[in-house]
Amino acid sequence: DSLTLKEAFKDKFFIGTALNLDQIWERDIKAVAVVKKQFNSIVAENCMKSMFLQPQEGQFYFKDADRFVAFGEQNKMQVIGHTLIWHSQTPAWFFVDKKGKDVPREVLIERMRKHIQTVVSRYKGRVFGWDVVNEAILDNGEWRKSKFYQIIGPEFIQLAFQFAHEADPNAELYYNDYSTAIPEKRKGIMAMVQQVKAAGGHISGVGMQEHNALDNPSLEEVEKTILGFADLGVKVMVTEMDISVLPHVRPNMGAEIGERYAYSKETNPYEKGLPPGKMAELGKRYVAFFNLYLKHQDKISRVTLWGVGDGDSWKNGWPIPGRTDYPLLFDRHYQPKPFVKDIIALTQKK
Ligand code: G3I
Repeated sequence: DSLTLKEAFKDKFFIGTALNLDQIWERDIKAVAVVKKQFNSIVAENCMKSMFLQPQEGQFYFKDADRFVAFGEQNKMQVIGHTLIWHSQTPAWFFVDKKGKDVPREVLIERMRKHIQTVVSRYKGRVFGWDVVNEAILDNGEWRKSKFYQIIGPEFIQLAFQFAHEADPNAELYYNDYSTAIPEKRKGIMAMVQQVKAAGGHISGVGMQEHNALDNPSLEEVEKTILGFADLGVKVMVTEMDISVLPHVRPNMGAEIGERYAYSKETNPYEKGLPPGKMAELGKRYVAFFNLYLKHQDKISRVTLWGVGDGDSWKNGWPIPGRTDYPLLFDRHYQPKPFVKDIIALTQKK
C-alpha cells in the first residue's frame, strides 16, 4: 500500500489543510476521512476570523472555534489559528464609535488588545501557532492603508504580536501574506519583520500563502523568498497553498470586461472536467513546488493546503463567481489526483 501524505512528510515538515465548517463538525464524512488519514496539521478557513469570533463588541462566539480546536486535539494534529488581525473580515464596529466615526487610536488599540487576549488565552497551550497579522503589506512593498494602519500607524503590528505573546508566551506567532514572491513585496515584508524583531517583538515565523497559478509565480522568485525570510532568523511556512488551472486575474490588474468574460462560468473550458493534459500540467507544477519545499526542508516547518477537495476551494468563487476550478490535491469526490503519488515519491528520494 502506498504512503499517505503525513507518513511521507513525517520527517520533513508538517503537512496541513484548512477546514471548513462541514469538516470541523464532521458533517462531510468523506472529506473528514481524508483529513484524518492524510494531514497532521489543521487551520480554520474562516471560523477564527474576528467577524465570526466577535461579531458585536464584547459578544464572543466560540462554538465553531472550540470544536475546531477539539477536532485537532482528538486527532493529535498541530492546530493553527487564523487570523487575529486582518484588514478584511474584521467586523465593522471594530473601527467606529456609536456615531459611525473612526475611533481614536487608544480605543482601537484597546479593542485589538481585548480581542487578541480573549481569543489567544482561551486556547492557551492548545493552539500551536497563530497568524497574528495577515496581509499588511501591499504588492509594491508599501504598507496597506488599512484602518489599523490609518488609525494606529505601523506600530499596530508590533502591538498585535505583543498582545498575543502576553496571552500565550509559548505559542508560535506568525506574519502571513500572499504574493510574497513579488520582489518589492518580499522586501517590504522583510523590512517590516526586521522592525518588529528590532523592537523586541516575538515573531516566530512568516507564512507564504502560496495561492498560485500554473504560470505564476516563478520558482526562482519563490526560492528567493524562502531564503530571504529564513535569513531573518524566523521559520518559513507555506500556509494556504493552491494552484488554479484558470488564468490568473488579479483584481488590481483592472481586468478588462473581455478578459473577465473569457474566464466566466459560461466560457471556462474546464467547467465540465479537467482534460488529462491539463491535469498533467497541474501535477508537474505541484511536484515542482514540493520539490522546492523539500530542498529547503531545514527552513520550512509546514506546508498547508487551502482546502481538502476541489469542491471546497474558494477559487471556485474568486475572482469570478461560479467557475469550476481544480486547485487542490483531492478532487470533488475526495479522491487523490494522479500526481499525489508523485509528490509522495519525492520524499523517498535520497
Ligand atoms: O458564513 C457566512 C454566511 O453566514 C453568510 O450567509 C454568507 C453570505 O455571504 O457568507 C458566509 O461567509 C463567507 C465565508 O467565506 C464562509 O463561507 C463569506 O461571505 C466569504 O467572503 C468567505 O470567504 C473566505 C475569504 O477568505 C474571506 O474571508 C473564503 O472562504 C476563504 O477561503 C478566504 O481565505 C483567505 C484567507 O483567510 C487569507 N488569505 C487569502 C484567502 C483566500 O481569499
